[in-house]
Amino acid sequence: MARRTNWRLTVGISAALAAAWAAIFLVGAWNAETLQVNIRLTARAAVVLFMLAFGASSLHALRPSRFTKWLLRNRRYVGVSFAVAHFIHLGMLVARDVVFPVPDSSLLNPLSLVFGGFAYLVIAALALTSNDRAVAWLGAQRWKRLHLVGGYYIWFIFTRTYALRAVEDPFFAPFALALFGVLAMRLVVLRRKKRRAPPRKAPLQRA
Ligand code: HEM
Repeated sequence: MARRTNWRLTVGISAALAAAWAAIFLVGAWNAETLQVNIRLTARAAVVLFMLAFGASSLHALRPSRFTKWLLRNRRYVGVSFAVAHFIHLGMLVARDVVFPVPDSSLLNPLSLVFGGFAYLVIAALALTSNDRAVAWLGAQRWKRLHLVGGYYIWFIFTRTYALRAVEDPFFAPFALALFGVLAMRLVVLRRKKRRAPPRKAPLQRA
């Protein structure tokens, strides 16, 4: 029997966030400043959703509760909401550059385009394979590897961005600390699993 889905959660989160960003344009008008505000707010909403999805299993392993059980069961839908929020980040960036271009300075600088651009390919691949059919098509092992390596690459881009900003401005420190917290939780759970795993049998020695 097919697993029950909860795409309504993804639609609900995305619609609520889109309404908040639209409200900023309604109140502040459509201009370079409100776009800049929304470029930042889309990334901030995206990083929170990303941390909830990427940290769900280790959070439940370390602090099981009704909420962490719900989060674990719905991390796919939270994860795709992250992708939606972050593609809106990209849309705002392109809109800013096209509608309100600043002479001789593009937001889409080469370094962001290479590392950020690749991250968007990864985000698209993770979002497009967030369904049972893709798991069956890829095979569980390959699917897990894609989501593990892809998840850590996105974690790296977010952490690099916020860690560098936190050096300049303490406002960004909570984001950087939370991202390191997610990594610490994952490593603690991984180490526990390794400790609990039965010792590997040594390959039989041929006589
Ligand atoms: C084509 C690729 C990308 C470009 C050109 C780009 C460009 C930008 C720009 C111009 C800002 C606003 C800077 C400011 O005024 O403060 C920004 C903010 C940010 N971007 Fe991106 N970005 C890209 C991809 C990504 C990706 C893939 C991630 C994460 C996985 C990311 C995470 C962030 C974060 C965390 C912020 C800071 C938001 C804040 O103020 O809290 N960006 N980006």
